[in-house]
Amino acid sequence: MRRKLAAGNWKMNGLSAALAELDALGDQSASAAEVLICPPATLIAAAASRVSGIAIGGQDCHAAQSGAHTGDIAASMLADAGASHVILGHSERRADHGEDDYTVATKAIAAWEAGLVAVICVGETLDDREAGRTLDVVGTQLSGSVPDGASAANTVIAYEPVWAIGTGKVPTTEQIAEVHDDLRARLVGRFGAEGDGMRLLYGGSVKASNADEIFATSNVDGALVGGASLKAADFGPIIDALNAS
Ligand code: 13P
Repeated sequence: MRRKLAAGNWKMNGLSAALAELDALGDQSASAAEVLICPPATLIAAAASRVSGIAIGGQDCHAAQSGAHTGDIAASMLADAGASHVILGHSERRADHGEDDYTVATKAIAAWEAGLVAVICVGETLDDREAGRTLDVVGTQLSGSVPDGASAANTVIAYEPVWAIGTGKVPTTEQIAEVHDDLRARLVGRFGAEGDGMRLLYGGSVKASNADEIFATSNVDGALVGGASLKAADFGPIIDALNAS
């Protein structure tokens, strides 16, 4: 049985006042689904000491555990601040910082070494989809970004079509199922039972109004939510939908 996961990615949003949203989400210890919030790095320590039953994660880490890398954050630093997870290979990192699959894989190994769960993101562009390349592109990203040694305990995969992120456009449930079923088959083919146990999240314009149908989709074990994770009033109902699914 895969435990469902409701993950929020605050991206580059949130000053200290935003921590009140975590208070508003309340104690999630009794939630059937695991709840994860990835605030900006500046808020991780404060967030981790404030929540109950909510895991806290980073949004990126460096592949090295320390060293001369001005402005970067090591996985061990995230763990030290109270994080248990880290998002890696988000399409915004791939686009803004030129991260490729190999870079993402090296970061995943660093994350595991620090005891973090790696939430590894894959997803096609609109050009890829229109050219019929979705499964190829996403499959290539998966094989290159997920290192050997991935397990159900140390890795979560998030499928986030680039064209659905922050746009209000959502794939049909048939399109989501096609990709998630393909990802599941690839994970099982490579990692066996561990691949069957890895959570597969959908991300891209998830909100309370579409959560029920997305969570009812084949091989969807939860969501990675951007905009609708910033306010407890929006994210709470998504957690509820996942718990009810
Ligand atoms: P939105 O939910 O704002 O579309 O963002 C999705 C995302 O990129 C989560 O990582």
